[in-house]
Amino acid sequence: MSRIIEKQDLSENVVRMVLDAPAIAKKRRAGQFIILKIDEKGERVPLTIVDSDEQKGTITIIFQVVGKTTAALAKMKAGEALMDLQGPLGNPTEIENFGHVVCIGGGVGVGVVYPLAAALKKAGNRVTSIIGARNKSLLILEEEMKKVSDKLIVATDDGSYGFHGFVSAVLQNLIDSKEKIDRVYAIGPVPMMRVLCDVTKPYTIPTIVSLNSIMVDATGMCGACRVAVGGQTKFTCVDGPEFDGHQVDFAQLTNRLRMYCTQEKEAFEAHRCQCHGK
Ligand code: FAD
Ligand code: FES
Ligand code: MG
Repeated sequence: MSRIIEKQDLSENVVRMVLDAPAIAKKRRAGQFIILKIDEKGERVPLTIVDSDEQKGTITIIFQVVGKTTAALAKMKAGEALMDLQGPLGNPTEIENFGHVVCIGGGVGVGVVYPLAAALKKAGNRVTSIIGARNKSLLILEEEMKKVSDKLIVATDDGSYGFHGFVSAVLQNLIDSKEKIDRVYAIGPVPMMRVLCDVTKPYTIPTIVSLNSIMVDATGMCGACRVAVGGQTKFTCVDGPEFDGHQVDFAQLTNRLRMYCTQEKEAFEAHRCQCHGK
């Protein structure tokens, strides 16, 4: 069981929650995630550990409402409890002083890139961060990202704030300005990560992506989260979630993420009807 200590809406449908999880807070490192289950009949949902406080025994998650479980989670209040929390899971990010790193987050992916940027900064890297969203009201963690970056560039698709365009265009500008970049971390929607990898590949800039494959057991047993990386089958839950982006088969990942779309839509609709008392 894990109690919700704090809950805050970060944007229209992105929620931040602080959860009581002393054992996880003690062990977790940047890049790792948890699997939560709301109640007895609930499905298992993986979410990144964005932050932790060992003293208070808490962890922070940030999630976007995209379907049944995230909608149900967003309805819960501080003081209520989740039935089950498992973690920390996945391999921690490889943290070294690489030199100049560029940390890129899109949408709710900014929540996932934040702990990486913080750990990379702490390890002595020069951190340039690029964060993006469809519009200004959907942008999250700008202040937090500023604190862990030497330079922060904000981009919005509609130009309502910062650079008008995609984060990939900002990265291309940075590369064109002849800045030496030692490593790129690209985290967000699959199409965004794919384009960012296409941008860095000709310049052979190592590019790390964090994959959000569908997970069930998260112990490497069920095979649900399999991805092809460099022609080999990998399990995101135990081999990842971070991989060399230039080796990832994004087309296969996209197809696998859409595998249960019909059932997910039905479950979401049924959940909404239940909530409206129909
Ligand atoms: P559904 O309607 O069930 O699904 C919507 C879409 O989410 C699906 O089409 C599918 O692409 C994906 N999805 C569905 N079930 C799962 C599942 N069991 N595992 C993974 N993806 C699924 N999201 C965040 O908002 N914040 C995070 O920090 C975050 N971190 C993640 C870390 C990892 C390692 C992984 C694998 C995923 C992460 N996600 C994160 C994605 C999050 O798990 C899904 O958005 C969530 O499971 C959707 O559940 P749902 O029932 O609300 O939506
Ligand atoms: Fe089952 Fe990764 S979630 S093998
Ligand atoms: Mg679901």
